[in-house]
Parts: sequence; structure tokens; C-alpha cells
Amino acid sequence: MLDTLSPVIPPAPAVHAKDLPPVKLLLGSIRNNLAIWSDNAFDTGFNRNTLFGVESVLVNDPAGVRHMMATNAANYVRPAMTPRILRPMVGHGVFLAEGGEWRRQRRLLSPSFTPNHVNILLPHFIAAANDLVGELEGQSSADLSDAYQIAALNAVLRALFSMPDRAERDRIGDLVRRYVTGPGRPQIFDAFAKSENSFAFALGKRRAFQKRWFSAVDAIVSARRDATRDTAHHDLLDLLIAVRDPETGASLAADEVRDQCATMIFAGYETTARLLFWASYLLTLDQAEQTRLRAEVAAFPPERVATLDDLGHWPRLRRVLLETMRLYPPVPVLVREPIEDDVIMGEPVRRGVQVYVAPWVLHRHRKHWQHPTAFMPDRFAGQASPWTSGGAYLPFGAGPRICIGAGFALAEAQIMLATVLQRYTLAIGSQRPVMPVARLTIQPSYAPMFKLERTLSP
Ligand code: HEM
Repeated sequence: MLDTLSPVIPPAPAVHAKDLPPVKLLLGSIRNNLAIWSDNAFDTGFNRNTLFGVESVLVNDPAGVRHMMATNAANYVRPAMTPRILRPMVGHGVFLAEGGEWRRQRRLLSPSFTPNHVNILLPHFIAAANDLVGELEGQSSADLSDAYQIAALNAVLRALFSMPDRAERDRIGDLVRRYVTGPGRPQIFDAFAKSENSFAFALGKRRAFQKRWFSAVDAIVSARRDATRDTAHHDLLDLLIAVRDPETGASLAADEVRDQCATMIFAGYETTARLLFWASYLLTLDQAEQTRLRAEVAAFPPERVATLDDLGHWPRLRRVLLETMRLYPPVPVLVREPIEDDVIMGEPVRRGVQVYVAPWVLHRHRKHWQHPTAFMPDRFAGQASPWTSGGAYLPFGAGPRICIGAGFALAEAQIMLATVLQRYTLAIGSQRPVMPVARLTIQPSYAPMFKLERTLSP
């Protein structure tokens, strides 16, 4: 039973009493697809819609999600819109691979993300967390949205390449951010594209970015290869270079290594930065929870973390992160297309129709959650990995294509947040609510200044 004494209800766009008319729905989807939903979506398990001739369905029920993302996952591929936007960033890495090629890549990569290997990466997360608090040192307020973006990029670049060089990291971060906020933003053409290369005239800037981005990642990978022929660095690049296909014995070619590295940077950086931002924001709204977390961290300070098992000393911190991803799932919507006609929850779904699974909606669904809009971390008490239960909780997706980096992300986020909370009490002076806005991830409507009150002397 949840303790329901005046829980915090964090900001979210209003839910409409009725479905939006087509033009408002289209414009709303482009502006902020968290603000388009009606009561209907939060009450029912399956919704069908046709917008200017494009048919879509929203699957909003755990059984339906299990069917399309696990049992019959082979029948569902990413729609043309996804590679149009992401190919320039991730190339032919695992995120966009399909069918047999996806199976091969996933088989090769999975061993690099086992808990044993994430253990090897912990020193990188600790170094990135220390860099973050080093940057915050002496400041009484900070834009933590920006600080977490820098810190999460730092963590992923250190974990991939043992890259401590700040200038180089900034260059990579700048490239990624300029893409995500510029040519990589979804456009109206993406929604109506029949293939990856339709409306080619709209793809010029994305292709130009791809050239610059790939040559930057290639340069890092080849510098590391040259510098480290005989030295083990204990990072993901070491693991990727050492990978051998258990079925064929083949290793990854140079461009494959590059595309997988680019994929991990893209998939692992902004998502984790958003998680850290929203968790910190929620803790400013719930100071009592923040105080309890600080006590938990004081009892086992981050400098004592040596293995993943040590993170078990922070169960409350983990629950806060899980609850943050329920309320503000970094990836708010997943989209697929069936390659053959299918039936989901007794409803026919034709080939080529866009099928949406929206963690944003499912995580706030009134049938599946008690007090769905409230921040109540204790709802996850005793559940170490609730995203694997096949229920209504999908921050990392579901089925065979579930996020390969979930353990990586949670370990990193636990270490970062513990390191910040150990030193600072976080608050926000402004009463202006920070609203969630859907882009590739859920970003804040504005970047609030967090007040940092020192809790530990340097
Ligand atoms: C809080 C942080 C993260 C969240 C919320 C998150 C979420 C997700 C989700 C929802 C998917 C499934 C997308 C779909 O089915 O369409 C996914 C896939 C993926 N994620 Fe993550 N992710 C996070 C961090 C990471 C990290 C740190 C890495 C790697 C270092 C990573 C690598 C990937 C990859 C490679 C895939 C594609 C897997 C495949 O298609 O087989 N993610 N992630």
C-alpha cells in the first residue's frame, strides 16, 4: 500500500477532455507530443487514428505491448522516419539495424554490457561525477540541465574511449547538440516520408553533418587504436575491438566499430542527462525525499563504490531514478511499422500502419498505476529491475530490442546523483513550473537555475 499523504504532483501538460481535431493534433505533435493526449488515451488500451490519410494506432496495454515488442517483434521495424533522422548520427550501428543484421550486431555487442563489464566502467563514471562537482565548486547556483549534459557526455566518452581531454569532448558534444537541435529535429517531411530517402531535398544538412561527425569519431577511434596496440584501457572501445562473433569468429570492421561508438554516444548521452535533470528537479519539489537520499548517500559515500554490488547500498536512490523515468521517461514514444498484417489485442493492424507505444502515456495510465501523476518512489520498493517485468513500465523499451545500456545508464546515474547530493542541497528559487517537452528525449521547457547549498566541506 502506498503512503498517499500529500505526494508531490510534478508539472505535466494538461490532458484534454476530448481527442484533438486533426490540424491541432498535427501541430501539437510537432510542438510537443506530450501535450496532445486526451483522457481516452489514459483510460483505454488501444486507440486508432487517421491523420491526413496516415493511419496510426497507439498500443497502450501491457499485453498488446508484449505482443508487438516481444512475441511478434520480428514483424515490427522502425518506420522510415527513424533512419531519416538518426542515420546521419548512428550510421549502420545496432540501433537502426533490422532482421538478421540486427541479430548479428546485438549478439556481438551484448557481452560488452554484462554486469561484469559495466563494473569495469565504474571508474569512468566516478571520474565524470568528480569532474561535474569540480565544475560546480564555488557556485551558489547552476544550470544543471546543461551541467548534466556535459557530465553525461563526459561519462560516455570516458567509458567508450577513456577520453579525459576536455577540449575534444566539448567538440564532440557541440557537434551532437547542434545536430539534435538543428537538422536532426523532426520535420513535417519526416512524418510523411515513405522511405528513408524520400524528399531528398530536405536531407542536405543531415548528410553534411554525417560527414563531419563520422570523420570526428573515426579520428578518435584510430588515434586510440594507434596509441594502444599494447595497452589495455578498460573501456568499451577495448571490448568492441576484441569482439569475436561466437558463430563465425569474425571481428568488427573499422567502420562498424565507428558506427557502434557513434550509436552509444547518441543513445547513451542525452537520455541519461535527462534522467539526471528530471530526478534533480523532482528532488527540489520533494525536499523530504531529498533529505532521505542524502542520509542514504552519507551512510555509504560514493568514494566507497568499487563494484556494481556497492550500488545496492542506495536502494532509495534507485527507486527515485525509477520513479523519475516513470514520470518523465527520457524516450517518451517508440514507433514501429508491421511488415505483415497483424492483430493486436483483437484489433486488426495493417502492414505499414504506424504503431506507437508511448511510455509517457503508459506510465501514467489510470488502469495500471495508483496515483499515476504523483511522485512516489516507494511504489518501486523491492523491485530491482521493474522494466524487465513486461508490464506497464517501459523506460528502456521492451522485448529483444530493449535498451542494451540500461545497466550502464543506471549505474552512471546513481553515481552522478549520489556525488551531487553528497555535496549539495538542491533547490529552485523560481515558482515557474518546468514543463516537459518532447524532442528526441523529454527536455525541460526552460533551464532553471538550481540553488546549490553546500552540505559538506571540501
Ligand atoms: C536513462 C538512460 C537511457 C534510456 C531511458 C534509454 C532508453 C532506450 C529505449 C527506450 C530504447 C528502445 C528504443 C526502441 O525500442 O525503439 C533504447 C535502445 C537502445 N539503447 Fe538506450 N537508453 C538509455 C541509455 C543508454 C545507454 C547509456 C546506452 C549505451 C551506452 C544505450 C544504448 C542503446 C542502444 C544501442 C539501443 C538500441 C538497442 C537495439 O535496438 O538492439 N542506451 N534505449
